[in-house]
Amino acid sequence: TLLNVVMNANGPVEGYGACEGTLACTTCHVYLPTEAYERMCQPTEDELDMLDLAVGLAETSRLGCQVV
Ligand code: FES
Repeated sequence: TLLNVVMNANGPVEGYGACEGTLACTTCHVYLPTEAYERMCQPTEDELDMLDLAVGLAETSRLGCQVV
């Protein structure tokens, strides 16, 4: 997942990925470039429900722990 990529590249980032990918937070919220957003798998209903709670939701918002 994108969360794993960030963690592997940078080590733990304080507050990022707080629930470790269990869809219980929105701390892994990212904005993808439109081209990347369109190439990724579609968000599940569970991800969309959690994204509704994210601050600053945008058309290309995703949860990094769900992007593969
Ligand atoms: Fe919590 Fe992604 S790490 S929802």
